Amino acid sequence: MYSTKIAGVGKYVPERIVTNKELATMVDTSDEWITERTGIKQRHWFEPGKDTTSNMGVKAARKAMENANVTKDDIDFIVFATLSPDYIFPGCGVLAQKELGMDTIGALDIRNQCSGFIYGLSVADQFIKTGMYKNILLICSEVQSNTFDLSDEGRSMAVIFGDGAGALVLQRSEDDSKIINTKMHSQGEYAEELILAEPSTNHSKRIKDDILTDNGIWPYMNGRNVFRNAVVRMTEVINESLTAANMTKKELDLVIPHQANLRISQAVQKKFELEDDKIFNNIQNYGNTTAASIPIALCDALEQGKIKKGDVLCFCAFGSGFTWGSALIKW
Ligand code: UT7
Repeated sequence: MYSTKIAGVGKYVPERIVTNKELATMVDTSDEWITERTGIKQRHWFEPGKDTTSNMGVKAARKAMENANVTKDDIDFIVFATLSPDYIFPGCGVLAQKELGMDTIGALDIRNQCSGFIYGLSVADQFIKTGMYKNILLICSEVQSNTFDLSDEGRSMAVIFGDGAGALVLQRSEDDSKIINTKMHSQGEYAEELILAEPSTNHSKRIKDDILTDNGIWPYMNGRNVFRNAVVRMTEVINESLTAANMTKKELDLVIPHQANLRISQAVQKKFELEDDKIFNNIQNYGNTTAASIPIALCDALEQGKIKKGDVLCFCAFGSGFTWGSALIKW
């Protein structure tokens, strides 16, 4: 069996920065509240007519391919993770395949929200391990700012979420750099705790006549329940990865959690007694970019020189579904 390494990374965020102060002119909130409850100071918002989920993903993908020193013709397969696809169908994978001018390779869409990166990484890893593919492009991209309900009811989404994209080239490894393991979980009994319910197949017409006045058009989140479960499940799943690899928390060089809320990351840090330089957070600058948050954070951690060859990294995520997962990496 082969193993998989991360051969290249890239990110793209839209130009427009929305600070907490600017957001407070649109919703009833404040810089103090957002900073204290989430750690976020600013986020990026897409430019309608210029940025889309697929083309932001493509910009990140071009950088990842350049970073991996591969061309579009080396890529065997695309995996695209997003909760905010350009269209309900077809998915963003084929749009990226077209925009990148790639051959008629397969393109798979992943719908696992904040855990989309981990699920996508795990799927890609299996294809490379079996020898079916040598180079897979994993793209994670989100445009969330055009689904915010800026009323008091919807403000918890508006303050947290942001737009952005990250991409990885995954490649058959020739040395000991590898994905050690990946773990994935779900618990559908909480599907409605973090949901965008409309448009839906629950009615005779997918687009209901009252869609604009029915609250289902806005994403809904039971913030407290999501928060509690995120801390418990991310802790559990990191332990699961460590146990399966016969490793201990002392062997972790860097944990890169999904950037959901700085307080969630801090709770995970405390559970694993990690020193400050062993956990990476950049939610302050981007907000929660859902599937894109870990690949964007990985790019920033590499740019800041926080990762060196041989390091043991752990990615973990939790989100809508509920879904959660982890990946243990030897860099
Ligand atoms: O990526 C995975 C998915 N998402 C997450 O991981 C998010 C998980 N949840 C959270 O991060 C937190 O639950 C939130 C940041 C969303 C909310 O924080 P919270 O500490 O759970 O606040 P809360 O909703 O319990 O509200 C506390 C207070 C309330 O006021 P009172 O009743 O104490 O007077 C709210 O009305 O804060 C008020 N509030 C706000 N104030 C200013 C709620 N949202 C806001 C806001 N700005 N945006």
